[in-house]
Amino acid sequence: MRIALSTGGGDAPGLNAVIRAAVLSAARLGWDVLGIRRGYAGLLGDDDIVPLTPETVRGIGHLGGTILRTTNRSDPFRYQRKQADGTVKEIDRSDELLARAKELGIDGVIAIGGDGSLGIAQRLHEKGLKIVGVPKTIDNDVSGTLATFGFDTAVNTAIEAIDKLHTTAESHDRVIALEVMGRHAGFIALHSGLAATADVILIPEIPYDIDKVCNKIQQRDRAGRLFSIVVVAEGARPIGGSHSSLGKSLPGEAERVGGIAEHVARDIEERTGKECRSLVLGHLQRGGMPTGYDRLLATRFGGAAVRAVADRRWGEMVALQPPNIVTLPIADALRTPKRVDVASDVVATARTVGISFGD
Ligand code: F6P
Repeated sequence: MRIALSTGGGDAPGLNAVIRAAVLSAARLGWDVLGIRRGYAGLLGDDDIVPLTPETVRGIGHLGGTILRTTNRSDPFRYQRKQADGTVKEIDRSDELLARAKELGIDGVIAIGGDGSLGIAQRLHEKGLKIVGVPKTIDNDVSGTLATFGFDTAVNTAIEAIDKLHTTAESHDRVIALEVMGRHAGFIALHSGLAATADVILIPEIPYDIDKVCNKIQQRDRAGRLFSIVVVAEGARPIGGSHSSLGKSLPGEAERVGGIAEHVARDIEERTGKECRSLVLGHLQRGGMPTGYDRLLATRFGGAAVRAVADRRWGEMVALQPPNIVTLPIADALRTPKRVDVASDVVATARTVGISFGD
């Protein structure tokens, strides 16, 4: 048996732990493992295919990033090719990819990725590539799994930032709006904001009214709490409005969502007269060592993916459904993206302790 691993889309802390666990599990079965570098670019001649052995994955389980590298621009169905005149043309190289996989004697691929990469995995599976998925994203927005690895690390990074902002905001009687990642899901903002005792949390699932946000800040002022921390998911939007976009992105790249915290800060300053600053936490949330939770989840996913390959569960992905790791069709998981359930206990708890969602 010869399998290949690929990591696609944005990186997430824990990718190396998946790779390590999958390689060690496969090696114990006597299988060969190949690493496809930079998404699928390694299979399309724009990067390499490297052998992965217990020796090559030694000591990587605690490291952030991915030893295979990754890209959010190597969709084989819309592959970016630079033309002589400098423009970029999208071409479908999926047939070529399948042919190359066959040539290399690859019996199965473990594709580790978020919703975008899993969508590509599903299409490749439909074309005949034998593929098992491993869900990955700091956003935690993949359905069918309670959690994706990388999310816990991102939440902890945001918590650390909020803790630090608290002391400086309090010293200056300021309002600080912290923008965290998540695309169109508010999980990072909700979990970090609640755990780090933010005063306002704005998430895409609950459009906000800026006057209600200001009411909360002024209420705190009247109670002698002259500072406030507002955690803003990058995809948050006002009632009747849409999310903020950072505009132009490179060919093949998804829209860059963000910039909302600065708008919120300006609106609060204008309406309350309080000094308000904004900060975008950005890619710090994707970097660094995975937390213990993420290392464990990633390791369980890596082992389970190899077992899924052994069971020929093609077109399925591993998922955490406590207490077990299960597999389910990638297509099922992709049908509806996971979003914060506004009726959930976490949202209810935030409301109970007095956090405002601006609604
Ligand atoms: O999906 C993960 C994520 O980090 C999002 O939270 C964020 O919007 C996006 O990726 C950023 O992508 P990039 O690294 O391409 O800027």
